[in-house]
Amino acid sequence: MNYLQKIPIILDGDPGHDDAIAWMLAFARQELDIRGVTTVSGNASLERTTRNMLQIFTLLGGRSIPLARGSERPITRLPFATPSVHGVSGLDGPALPEPDIALSELSGVGLMAKILRESETPVTLVPTGPLTNVGALLLAHPELKTKIAHISLMGGGILKGNWTPAAEFNILADPDAAKIVFESGIPITMAGLDVTEKALITPADFERIRAVGNKVAVIVADWLCFFYEFHKQLGYPGAPVHDPVAVIALVKPEILTIQEMYVQVETYGEFCKGATIGDVYKVSGKPPNAKVIMDIDRGAFVDLIVDAVSRY
Ligand code: BDR
Ligand code: CA
Repeated sequence: MNYLQKIPIILDGDPGHDDAIAWMLAFARQELDIRGVTTVSGNASLERTTRNMLQIFTLLGGRSIPLARGSERPITRLPFATPSVHGVSGLDGPALPEPDIALSELSGVGLMAKILRESETPVTLVPTGPLTNVGALLLAHPELKTKIAHISLMGGGILKGNWTPAAEFNILADPDAAKIVFESGIPITMAGLDVTEKALITPADFERIRAVGNKVAVIVADWLCFFYEFHKQLGYPGAPVHDPVAVIALVKPEILTIQEMYVQVETYGEFCKGATIGDVYKVSGKPPNAKVIMDIDRGAFVDLIVDAVSRY
């Protein structure tokens, strides 16, 4: 693909093992032009996810990409208790290099706004954590909405939850922000649990990745081993590597099965707070506001990750 046709993107996440692998995949793909990266609290505190971001881009060699510290707490609610899935640091497992990149002086929302304002063409946002930064950006800068081409996000689940029976972690952590995003009118692709629980990477695959042999490959294999330990106790045959699916929607949509539907976010339900309610049977009469990914070719997914680590 020719340089001029690259898709300009902003990565936004709460690394997190699967955020880190999503960013590794994005940085390896020549179709994508990463204009900036922002953090949010989620898998760990903002301080930790921000340090993790600096370590990840030091490892990947992304020194020229602007990196900014994003939102510390949800738009209107108290901070969500950070989970243990990713360990105390949010990215436990292998030792990572000490950061040798400086943080942007701008806030996460400030960096996003600057990139959008200065871009000649609309930019795609790829959020893989709670949607706080994106929601705050839309509230603070409605004039920049037309500069957002597309939001390809990891979050939600039409038919399942993982943090409550009804809600997925990223949406539950800031349902108000998610509501703003889903009601924005911006084209949305949703990589929710319907697909990401099928994006399984198994122990045999870890070894295939490790065998590539470079530093990034070994660390990705170690991240997967750590991430799998938690899921193994729950009976998973592999690690559900959620966040890279939001990147795959941009670079290899042909390995995904996508269904368009109208999706609403429940912000105050007694049992269903944070649920993404999808109009699967088109009973609301409302036009679709999201392309919801329902399935993935698992073998092709693993091949993409192996290919990505091979490029470092
Ligand atoms: C989401 O929550 C986090 O644990 C992962 O990084 C992913 O973004 C899955 O529910
Ligand atoms: Ca994440």
